[in-house]
Amino acid sequence: ALERTFSIIKPDAVAKNVIGAIYNRFESAGLRIVASKMVHLSKEQAEGFYAEHSERPFFGALVSFMTSGPVMVQVLEGENAVLKNREIMGATNPAEALAGTLRADYAASIDENACHGSDAPESAAREIAYFFSADELCSRTR
Ligand code: CMP
Repeated sequence: ALERTFSIIKPDAVAKNVIGAIYNRFESAGLRIVASKMVHLSKEQAEGFYAEHSERPFFGALVSFMTSGPVMVQVLEGENAVLKNREIMGATNPAEALAGTLRADYAASIDENACHGSDAPESAAREIAYFFSADELCSRTR
């Protein structure tokens, strides 16, 4: 099915100057970027985005890292976009990520793991709405 998913290029990957290289991975896999912007998240924005993890032991480090520098946030559209983006990213822990995935190529650790992607269509809808209004989505089908 034609889907949308939400993606973040995290501060470590922005600092490594690989935004374009990562966008090329999305496009080469048949995903289209239908919205995109650079933002430096506030503590409140990062805490709100990751609210489901607020009780996890890594929450403080996660918020601290995600506010340490600018990120790119984007909406990707295409067939099975949620799963396709997760395959492009590889496992959350780069030590477990398959060769050729974003995490294997660009991530240093599970905390600084280069990118985020929605885990299901429902979370994608919520995460897209957290950063973009409907009129900011330039879908091919609009
Ligand atoms: P992300 O997909 O952005 O969602 C939450 C982030 O928390 C995750 O990627 C990891 O970067 C980070 N994290 C740190 N430790 C863990 C862990 N043990 N399990 C899951 N995520 C973790």
